[in-house]
Amino acid sequence: MQENLLEQIDLDNVPEHVAIILDGNGRWAKKRFFPRFKGHQEGMKRVVEIVEKSSDLGIKYLSVYAFSTENWKRPESEVSSLMDLLVYYVEIQLAKLKKNNVKVMTLGDLSIIPPKSKAAIEKACSDTKDNTGMVLNIAINYGGRSDIIHGVKGVVEDISNKKISIDDLTEISFKDYLYTSHQPDIDLLIRSGGEKRVSNFMLYQMAYAELYFTDCLWPDFKEDELYKAVLEYQNRNRRFGGV
Ligand code: FPP
Repeated sequence: MQENLLEQIDLDNVPEHVAIILDGNGRWAKKRFFPRFKGHQEGMKRVVEIVEKSSDLGIKYLSVYAFSTENWKRPESEVSSLMDLLVYYVEIQLAKLKKNNVKVMTLGDLSIIPPKSKAAIEKACSDTKDNTGMVLNIAINYGGRSDIIHGVKGVVEDISNKKISIDDLTEISFKDYLYTSHQPDIDLLIRSGGEKRVSNFMLYQMAYAELYFTDCLWPDFKEDELYKAVLEYQNRNRRFGGV
């Protein structure tokens, strides 16, 4: 099955930037009478696999929603286990990310995340900063609206410092004030877990993204699910507002 799906993909037309809302960890765990944390643990394993397969496919940018600005509302124990999981991810994956030439970047405001998680993720970014392969954006304490506000503040600062004039601000130039500065827009947004919403993820960047929703819970999202999403993308007719 997997072989067949992979064979059907046109490697000259893979989406350049894929964003993923990893949803369904809690339900996956509940179905098995496991604590929610077990679902996140299993979800992390899928992140590991999907990062590798995305890079193999030739995807240039992969953005994953690890922790949203709204996720602080979860019980403290779940928040802290998600923060610990980020540290663990870096511990077990950094060598492989380096070897696979993946460049790790973050999206979001890291100033309020626990120091240990911040240090781990910053180490992953600095150790891979010269890599030239796929960029892996890990969104932590990220929200699409706060990304835009952060960008607007940057613009206001540059205008007050006379670095730019108000007329320099365009839909295109504004992109460089976002956390994804100098990165292309999203081509394909994948959301697992059955909900059909974008949950404040990368709102400006996904203006023309193809949206792919699947009922598959994130811990069940193996490589063939990625291939299905890419194949669906390749069958869509992208017009960007034209005919
Ligand atoms: C949503 O499932 C998932 C999250 C809020 C966390 C995703 C985080 C990971 C998979 C951990 C590691 C991530 C990286 C990038 C190393 P949910 O809990 O909302 O599921 P539910 O809707 O079924 O309750």
